[in-house]
Amino acid sequence: MAYSEKLIDHYENPRNVGSMDKNEMSVGTGLVGAPACGDVMKLQIKVTPEGIIEDAKFKTFGCGSAIASSSLITEWVKGKSLDEAGSIKNSQIAEELALPPVKVHCSILAEDAIKAAISDYKSKNGVADAAE
Ligand code: FES
Ligand code: FES
Repeated sequence: MAYSEKLIDHYENPRNVGSMDKNEMSVGTGLVGAPACGDVMKLQIKVTPEGIIEDAKFKTFGCGSAIASSSLITEWVKGKSLDEAGSIKNSQIAEELALPPVKVHCSILAEDAIKAAISDYKSKNGVADAAE
């Protein structure tokens, strides 16, 4: 199976690996697991009072595609509003990294993790969800 250069780059030089203090009010934490393979992804965001994501970190215990997907999404969400970050689709990640079909669920993990981090931040800070 041939992996794309972007994927290999994010896997070999992952951006924004690390963690933040999950008890801080400005931090939202998302922890999700993939039922298909048991891989686990933790993604955290630090949000300004204006609702902009100023920093993002991840720790992923999983395959290379999951690591690359989380690395990519932490880059993408920085500087975005919560709503913008929450509307990132796994298909955009899969396309950017040219994930093979069996690895598409790895990008779903990243979408789920950012959504979980956003809702954790919102519930901690009493932010109502935008009308759906
Ligand atoms: Fe083995 Fe994901 S299934 S690392
Ligand atoms: Fe399961 Fe990648 S997250 S194989």
